[in-house]
Formats: sequence, C-alpha cells, structure tokens
Amino acid sequence: MTLLNPTWTALLYLAAAACFILALKGLNSPRTARRGNLIGAFGALLAVVTVFVSVKLDNIPWILGAIAVGSGIAAPVARRVQMTQMPQLVALFNGVGGGAAALVALLELSHTADPWVRLAIVFTLLVGAVSFAGSGVTFAKLQGLMTTRPVTFPGLPALMAVVLLAAVGAGIVVILSGWLALAQVLLLLGLVAGILLVLPVGGADVPIVISLLNAFTGLAVAASGLVLGNVLLVVAGTLVGASGTILTRAMAAAMGRSVAGIMFGAFKGGSTAGSTAVSERPVRSSSPEDVAVLLGYAQRVIIVPGYGLAVAQGQHTAAELALALEARGIEVDFAIHPVAGRMPGHMNVLLAEASVPYESLKEMSEINSEFKTTDVALVVGANDVVNPAAKTTSGSPIYGMPILEVADSRQVVFLKRSMRPGFAGIENELLYEPQTTLLFGDAKDSLTKVLGAVKAL
Ligand code: TAP
Repeated sequence: MTLLNPTWTALLYLAAAACFILALKGLNSPRTARRGNLIGAFGALLAVVTVFVSVKLDNIPWILGAIAVGSGIAAPVARRVQMTQMPQLVALFNGVGGGAAALVALLELSHTADPWVRLAIVFTLLVGAVSFAGSGVTFAKLQGLMTTRPVTFPGLPALMAVVLLAAVGAGIVVILSGWLALAQVLLLLGLVAGILLVLPVGGADVPIVISLLNAFTGLAVAASGLVLGNVLLVVAGTLVGASGTILTRAMAAAMGRSVAGIMFGAFKGGSTAGSTAVSERPVRSSSPEDVAVLLGYAQRVIIVPGYGLAVAQGQHTAAELALALEARGIEVDFAIHPVAGRMPGHMNVLLAEASVPYESLKEMSEINSEFKTTDVALVVGANDVVNPAAKTTSGSPIYGMPILEVADSRQVVFLKRSMRPGFAGIENELLYEPQTTLLFGDAKDSLTKVLGAVKAL
C-alpha cells in the first residue's frame, strides 16, 4: 500500500484538529451539543484512519485486534449506561487514556537519547499513571465499590511527599540515563501518587476530581505527542487539558469551593460529606390534589429539577405538567442549578430528552431574582441545590455554594420519597418552613398524579 505524502498527512491532521475545535464549540450549548459530539467523533475517526494511511505500521493485526476489543467493550457499555452513572464512565474512559499515554511513553524510552524527549517521556509516564490510578479510585468510589467518604490515615501527607520526591528523583535519573527499569519504577510511583491523591477526596468533590484528572490525561497525551512527534496528539491533548481545567474551575465555582481547597483541604481530612441524621420534627405534607390546586391557580410556577427527577425518570411527566399548566395561562420555567444531578449539564440533558424548549430552561443567575414574584416553586427530587444551609451554616459541607433561592417564592412544594437528605448528607431546614409542603413518593408517580389532578381541575 502506498503511504500518503507528509503534506496530505498534515492537511488531514489539520482537518481533524479543526473538527475537535468545532466539537468543543458545539458542546457549548445544549442546542448544538449533539452535532458537536458527532463532529468530534468524526475528527477522531479521521485521525485514526490518517495514521493507518500515513505511517508504516508494524503489527497491524495486533493493532486492529486491540481496536476491536476496545470498541467491543466500550460501545455497548456507553449505550447501556444510565445518565446518573455517566461520571464514573467518564472516569473509567479517562483513566484508560492516561494509562495508554503512559505505556506509549514507556515503550518509546529505548528509541531516543534526546534528553528533551526523555523529559516529555518522564512527564507522560508520571501524569498518565497518576490519571490512570486516580481515575480508577474515583470510579470505585462512584460505582459504590468503596466508600465515597474521604479516606485518610496518619502520615498520608508525609507518604505523599516521599512518593513525589522519589518520583522527581527517579525522573531526573531517567532523563539523564534513559534507564528503563527505573522508568518502570517511576510508573509505579505515579500509580501510588494517583491513589494517594484521590483517596482523601470524598462526597461531592469526587466529580470535580474526575474533571481535574481529565485535564491531567490531556496533558499526558499532549506530552506523548511530543514524544512521538505527532502534532495532532499535541493539539488534541492540549484541548482536553484546557477544557478539563475550565470545567474543573467552573464546577468548583458552582459549588462555592476552590480547586486547591478540594485537593489540599481533603488532605487534611476536610472534604465534604456530612451526617445523614434525619430529625423527627413535623412537616406539612399534602396530597397530589392539593398540590394540583396550588399549581393550577398560580400565575407563575418555577420547576426546580434535581437528582431525584433523573432517578425517577420523571422528565417527560414534568414536561407534560409544564405544558398542562401553560395551557391554563400559567407562566412556567425550569430553574437549572449548575450542579443539580450528578454531572455537569445533567438537568439540561434530562429535560432536552423530554423536549422541554431551551427557552424554558433558566440558569441560576438568570432566574434567582424571579422567585420573589413566583407563586409556587415545585422542587422535584432536588435538595442540596435549594438548601439554605449553603448560606447560613458555616460548618456545612455545602457552605458557600450558590443556591436556587426557592425560599423567596410564596409556596414551596417538594416532591421526594422521604425525609432523607441529598448528596451532601445534610438536613434541609426549608422542609420545615411554614410555606413548604411535601408530597411524598417517587417523583414520576407524584408528577403523574399531580398532572392528572391538574387536568381534572
Ligand atoms: P440531592 O441533593 O442529591 O437531592 C436529591 C433528592 O432527590 C433527595 O432529597 C432524594 O430524597 C430525592 N430523590 C431521590 N430519588 C428520588 C425519586 N425516585 N423520587 C423522588 N425523589 C427522589 O440532589 P440535587 O439537589 O440535584 O443536588 C445535587 C448534589 O449532587 C449536590 O450536592 C452536588 O454538589 C452533588 N453533585 C453534583 C454533581 C454535578 S456536576 N451535577 C456531581 C456530583 C455530585 P429522598 O431520598 O427522600 O427521595
């Protein structure tokens, strides 16, 4: 087979890089996200095909076999995964990317004597291994294979310092000597550092760390591009590194936390996760018919979706309820908190699935001032994102997180199954306020009953 000349290779790589950039642009808005995803996937396909037609590859059957095995595992898993399990899937795929970059770098060590290339190899080895092992631990935490609480032990910071110092020392020797056995030790040190880095992170901080490790994988892949002399890997890795960093900062800001606080606060054992104690105080609960009356005779209703709506798969019923209320001349919007649910954009994706118009989805900053003129805030399976403890209780794990100000509306209705708290494990005082009503039950069942009662008004 004749191979492509370098000019054509460079042009195809440029086209693939343009696809990656257009993909990121598309992912900026729910309206264009699906198209962005497809463009990104096409760019990746183009990049892989370009490698096959422009590089003289050895072991093609092995490469094709590995691609077949990888695709055979990943495609059905990605198809079957529940939206609520997406963060751990991202962690898994991301970790594999970091691990692959580290292995490629290890293999390349014996092919170079250039200290600058060896520097890139050492960086890829270390950061890729940290990402692989760290992502493995986050996967285990989110998949319930181990506790999601912070895991710390005496001497953890000292052990981490020793591992990092040893890694830096080994890295310098590898750069100067190209010693393969020591590079393997460096890989192991990276794996240990990845585990130690993530073990003390718990609760709501875990997804932020996934995003941070995603950025690490991007950097490792970019450095592996330097090792292999492949510009496209450098571009793609840099894009992943930059977008992962931006997402990490945005998620941390949405939770009112700093990235440094999450990583190093956790080292002191201070990561999130509160008590799950539930108090026995009385609350006002009502029937679906009562809730239908509240909603049906309101002028303005804001629906606040949360994790429970996703679990109950009640998004279609919520959309139908909004339509039924609008048919009665009521103004209805959905208030979207940036960390409602369990992944960035979770509520946008959920409600888009139910064809809720994008204009009805209002960001927190846009809608918070409107609760004051709202008759009913209908909180469906959300808790932490409306919990006033974020403003009032300084010791609380969510203290400092901006919340949706549902307490400003005339009536607040919570649809949830019990008095159990949300992800952060802390009580919500709003449940006990006089303007609050609870309708207990699975969100989809409750919404179905309320919808029926609204239609019967
Ligand atoms: P949560 O605070 O977790 O509250 C969810 C509520 O839904 C709970 O009160 C639960 O009460 C209820 N619920 C669960 N299943 C239900 C069902 N089938 N039917 C009705 N209700 C149900 O959710 P939120 O307000 O969306 O806040 C998200 C939390 O997750 C935040 O703490 C955030 O920091 C964290 N987090 C977010 C992300 C991202 S990036 N979005 C990632 C990880 C963690 P019952 O059990 O009583 O029903």
